Amino acid sequence: MKNPVVPPCALACASLIILSVIPAILAADDNSTILLSCGASESSFVLDGRNWTSDADFNFAHPLSGESARAARQSSSVPRVPYLTARVFTSPFSYNFSLAVGGRVFLRLYFYPSDYGNHTSDDAFFSVTADTFTLLHNFSASLFAQNTTVDYFTREFSLNVSTGILNLTFSPSPTHNHSYAFINGIEIVPIPDIFNLGNAMLVTGGDVNSITYEIDPESAIETVYRLNVGGQAITDPKGGFSRLWEDDTRYLLGAAVGVTFSKNPNVSITYARGVPSSIAPTEVYETARSMGLEASVNLQYNLTWILQVDAGFYYLVRLHFCEIQYPITTTNQRVFDIFINNQTAQRYADVIAWSGNIGVATYRDYVVITTGSGQMDLWVALHPQITSQPEYYDAILNGLEVFKLQNSSNSLAGFNPEPRSDQTSDSPNGSASRKNHKALPAILGGLIGGVAFLLVAFGLIMLCRRWKKQKAEEAATSEGTYGALPLSLIGNSHFAASARTTTGSNASPLPANLCRYFSFEEIQTATKDFDESLLLGVGGFGKVYLGEIDDGTMKVAIKRGNPMSEQGVHEFQTEIEMLSKLRHRHLVSLIGYCEENYEMILVYDYMAHGTLREHLYNTRKPPLSWKQRLEICIGAAHGLHYLHSGATYTIIHRDVKTTNILLDANWVAKVSDFGLSKAGPAMDDTHVSTVVKGSFGYLDPEYFRRQQLTEKSDVYSFGVVLFEVLCARPALNRTLPKEQVSLADWALHCQKKGVLEDIMDPCLKGRIAPQCFKKFAETAEKCLADLGAERPSMGEVVWNLQFALHIQESAENSGNIIDGISDDAIPLGMFHKQDLNTPTTESTTATTISSTVSIQDRSIFASDDSQGLAPNAVFSEIMNPAGR
Ligand SMILES: *[C@@H]1O[C@H](CO)[C@@H](O)[C@H](O)[C@H]1NC(C)=O
Ligand SMILES: *[C@@H]1O[C@H](CO)[C@@H](O)[C@H](O)[C@H]1NC(C)=O
Repeated sequence: MKNPVVPPCALACASLIILSVIPAILAADDNSTILLSCGASESSFVLDGRNWTSDADFNFAHPLSGESARAARQSSSVPRVPYLTARVFTSPFSYNFSLAVGGRVFLRLYFYPSDYGNHTSDDAFFSVTADTFTLLHNFSASLFAQNTTVDYFTREFSLNVSTGILNLTFSPSPTHNHSYAFINGIEIVPIPDIFNLGNAMLVTGGDVNSITYEIDPESAIETVYRLNVGGQAITDPKGGFSRLWEDDTRYLLGAAVGVTFSKNPNVSITYARGVPSSIAPTEVYETARSMGLEASVNLQYNLTWILQVDAGFYYLVRLHFCEIQYPITTTNQRVFDIFINNQTAQRYADVIAWSGNIGVATYRDYVVITTGSGQMDLWVALHPQITSQPEYYDAILNGLEVFKLQNSSNSLAGFNPEPRSDQTSDSPNGSASRKNHKALPAILGGLIGGVAFLLVAFGLIMLCRRWKKQKAEEAATSEGTYGALPLSLIGNSHFAASARTTTGSNASPLPANLCRYFSFEEIQTATKDFDESLLLGVGGFGKVYLGEIDDGTMKVAIKRGNPMSEQGVHEFQTEIEMLSKLRHRHLVSLIGYCEENYEMILVYDYMAHGTLREHLYNTRKPPLSWKQRLEICIGAAHGLHYLHSGATYTIIHRDVKTTNILLDANWVAKVSDFGLSKAGPAMDDTHVSTVVKGSFGYLDPEYFRRQQLTEKSDVYSFGVVLFEVLCARPALNRTLPKEQVSLADWALHCQKKGVLEDIMDPCLKGRIAPQCFKKFAETAEKCLADLGAERPSMGEVVWNLQFALHIQESAENSGNIIDGISDDAIPLGMFHKQDLNTPTTESTTATTISSTVSIQDRSIFASDDSQGLAPNAVFSEIMNPAGR
């Protein structure tokens, strides 16, 4: 770690966060919160407004043993503190904490499975006990991470430490050879009593609401799910305790996912009588999911969440409610039933009857008993209740928590999941995660994430075209991360990104590493003092170099801009601040920046496979299989959906095209170049009026006509991308006969005539399942609808593509279709299209159209097609934020 000193700018970066989180920390935990970064060499970190201390510097009663180690896999997507260092134990060791006050605490254990020193990640099997409670037994962090498709995770427990003394013991499992224990971070946060509130109803399958269940005040509890239903991932600045609320989409069953909505801005959330505000922050109640406006549809289905849990435990299921949708004033207007695990947990749920008014928060607790062992699914389902004839046949839910209660032998430990055989295959794009029955929610999940603002950006395109090498270690680095990085920004829910954690864990509130600052010297080292042999490309913005950081453990793309003015520096910082908060598995991430001496340098993730386009046509690369193409499209659609789905701000990419979809070493698609992005409507506006920008061939005709930007403009461009992927030809090819020049027009024409197959990539002939082809073509066609309102949302696009992939996979599995392009059948890429003679850029021809619109910067149109880097234009936006 080369970056122990916090530069003023990084502080600026963190200031938003700090400002809002400090009061919460002071109010909620004073100095009584303990935050340890285990095995860290620096003694303390304050980067995110929280005080992390190295365990080596913490005042323990007895000496620390175990070795401090650095994770062998230093990945940019993993927060540096506390995950990239660990303490490793080869024999049992206890941390003794003495707390300022006795009582209930959250104990959070942070894990990043990686090799540490001589220890390989697969050998870590260990138990963790807290006083007399077993929290984890024979636990493998690596299996857990694989099963939940995350790189790193937090397990959250709640203990009643009435004595004020907590012994936390890590013991390697004696049953495994070479076993060892490790821990990356430990957090202890005092909390009020939010568990034993005396009104939990036991769900028995028999009489409803007849038996209350008392939770033993001394019992140990584990948080297994904490979902902000209908909203985004949030951390909990006001309610304190750094709880993380994950977004609920990935846990929904099937396609009937209801509708989400937010409260009216005039309503402010209050808590019902008897409901402590510590139960959940108001943000949780500000969004909700209901079934939909169509009563007849609602009656046909259950709004259902499926949550994987360990069988054999009791679970406390806490449902949070707040009426924020209908103008309901009396009882019996919206009434529904609640089922948990097929048993009726509640009849006649009537939020207004419980809370008294619109905007008043309340909750209900149910305890369910599960039997057996291993993993099982916990179902929570809502259905309209009709016997009371309410006004709305609809249901609502704002938040959902599932807590595991200790069993009679004081244990919370479940079994390790089975190792996933498909993890080791080198199939691209985490397809493993879709093979279970939760496929759909898992895919839809992760979609909705954080919010953001505008961004800078500078097409990574040129450089990416040249990147070729694929390193095994990179493969290892990004393997198994499905979905967004668990990045939640403490203290500012508006920036909380989609926290993809997972079964049995919560992503932790994220410490540090949002906005890494590099000194100029570090950049010089990384690029061997801007050695020309490392040059990946040159754009208007400046030169782009391949660099290595963190002692050569990580490859990055370093973009060195031309020196700028002092004014520019400020704007630059503001933009970086925003950009660094956008994290998603399917977005190219900004790792950091440097701005010494008016240098302006950006450090990005390295995308080993370059752009999607260079794998489609005008290339010597072997063609991608249809499944690969589908997976790439799905990934890119996820990334765009993430940009679109912020609750407060929507980001419209504005320049979606195949050169802005990059591929990492594992063929995971990442959307890049937000340079033309705009912060979209904040709730009430429906469009952003703007000067037309974008790339010809991809430009939404409606946007073009009305110069009003909505996220549907991106959907249009994405439709062009889909046809490009299918047909393997450029969006515009002026060498072709007139009616074929525009792919969008030509493909639509062919689709309407039913002859689309005639123009598809010959490599794919006979390799696409007919139903899959149909679904894909229909989806692309809908994206190109003339009116924005008629186009699907990116969420729907993801769903449809996912469905298409599913059909394809079934057909392949049943042997009806052979995917994978075999050598004999397929000409190499260089022969594989008729477009060989196509000029790679068509920039100048744009002028015919430009006279009809106001073009702020003509160089935008240079991004027309393949060479698409328009850095000057991009940069002018950064310089002039008012222009947005
Ligand atoms: C913790 O345990 C003590 C001793 O049983 C009990 O008096 C106290 O109420 C418990 N606190 C909570 C928050 O449950
Ligand atoms: C909803 O779930 C309940 C409990 O599992 C079940 O009895 C009922 O048939 C379901 N209703 C529909 C429409 O699926």
